[in-house]
Amino acid sequence: MRACQYSARVTRRPLALVVALLLVGCTSAPGVSARSAATITTQTETTPVESTPATAGDGIGDSLFPSLGNPGIDVMHYDVDISYDAVEDVVEGTVAIDLLLTEDRAQITLDSAGPAVSTVLVDGVLAVAEQDPPELRITLPRQGRAGDELQLTIAYSVATQPVDSPIGLESGWFNTAGGSYVLNEPDGARTWLPCNDHPSDKATFTFAIAVPAGVTAVANGALEDHRTAADSEVWVWQEDRPMATYLVQLLTGDYEVIESESREGLPLVSVVLRDDLATMQPFIDVTPTMIEFFEQYFGEYPLDRYGVAMTDSFGGLAMETQGRSLFSRDDFAEGSLGVSQQRYLSHELAHQWFGDAVSPARWQDIWLNESFATYGEWMWSDHIGIADLDATAMYELNYRSPGSSADPTADSLFGSNSYGGGAVVLHALRLTIGDDAFFELLTRWVAENNGESRTTEDFIALATDVAGKPLPQFFDEWLYAAMPPTEFPMSTA
Ligand code: TRP
Ligand code: ZN
Repeated sequence: MRACQYSARVTRRPLALVVALLLVGCTSAPGVSARSAATITTQTETTPVESTPATAGDGIGDSLFPSLGNPGIDVMHYDVDISYDAVEDVVEGTVAIDLLLTEDRAQITLDSAGPAVSTVLVDGVLAVAEQDPPELRITLPRQGRAGDELQLTIAYSVATQPVDSPIGLESGWFNTAGGSYVLNEPDGARTWLPCNDHPSDKATFTFAIAVPAGVTAVANGALEDHRTAADSEVWVWQEDRPMATYLVQLLTGDYEVIESESREGLPLVSVVLRDDLATMQPFIDVTPTMIEFFEQYFGEYPLDRYGVAMTDSFGGLAMETQGRSLFSRDDFAEGSLGVSQQRYLSHELAHQWFGDAVSPARWQDIWLNESFATYGEWMWSDHIGIADLDATAMYELNYRSPGSSADPTADSLFGSNSYGGGAVVLHALRLTIGDDAFFELLTRWVAENNGESRTTEDFIALATDVAGKPLPQFFDEWLYAAMPPTEFPMSTA
């Protein structure tokens, strides 16, 4: 399946509209060939949405997601300028991508698995491009040299819908009754935005999102501008900290933007649906206290703002979208801080240090995100008296299932060994090197790697440095072995 396969997979839609979208999506504009257009098939309402095989396309060698990433490029900035039509569920617009060539190249690729691209400009010059999902292949108008800075401007449209991801969840763009949200981890961004969809390449972002009058559009960072026209509004958001594509937040709907400041002067920006204002206030209010708690252990909050976004997504969803975590309103509907709300909020906040400020260089390094955020969740739960940390760790160790936390498969990426199973490894490390060294390690990990993408081996190297003694045996036994020891080491403290 090649061009326009996603347009062809629009589900829950009358056939006439599917055909209309196909026509919109597959019209080839100058310079862009829609490969194998003849293979387009329409599908019926009951056909499940299929995923792009993880092995299709060509990426940068991520063993779990071989098609993600694009050799020879380093993106500096994305300028996403799109409109969302919530009646037709179509996104249309341009993305301007400032990038650096890291190799001499005549051709480059981007990850694009869904967008129907109409034109590609390179430094303002129309380029020949080929849609070969999940890749967009671009022939540079002039031979490129390593070190060249280029600006690509890609005009596209896409019939928005979530797609199955190899992790066993849907990802991408979700249309809701009142608007939309995106969930990109690990490979959903490319389904609605041509981009370098791998966490090893972080970039700053500007979003200008046009929506119908009366609708709010929200994205990461600061609200820079809000322009109103006769029947539309444009909301401009800017994220100045390098961000991985899987951490993009993009919401539309009847949202209220609530801005305040922490006691330390950190800007706080939360968004909740207008009808939920009173219900969600306790969760906005607890945020600064939680930030201060984690700062004692992980170092100063590593980004330039924080907040919560309470969306109309399916319950059970929580995602550490950069600088403003995303939650489902269903999970917070009681309006009070119960056990699960405390766990969700603390977990996603801890991710801002572990995952967002410092991102995984490869998807196999996911424990650097999930196990660390889980450990933060355990620390907060212990602090407020929900669950004793030692007891939680002991329980998780006793019931841990086999498998190394540093060697997940695509379908176990978000399995228990990436969460509690790896948090157990951190607890054992803490007991081995002592509290002071352990929290110095976590603090230095974020302070020294903020804005970057790192591997498990990088973490082990820093742990060795901080501990002042070699730790390979520890990591062999606890992290790399399919089963860690059955008991925690004696505390050195
Ligand atoms: N990173 C999320 C967490 O905090 C979990 C997650 C992974 C996720 N993939 C997702 C959530 C896709 C929503 C959609 O644990
Ligand atoms: Zn998590």
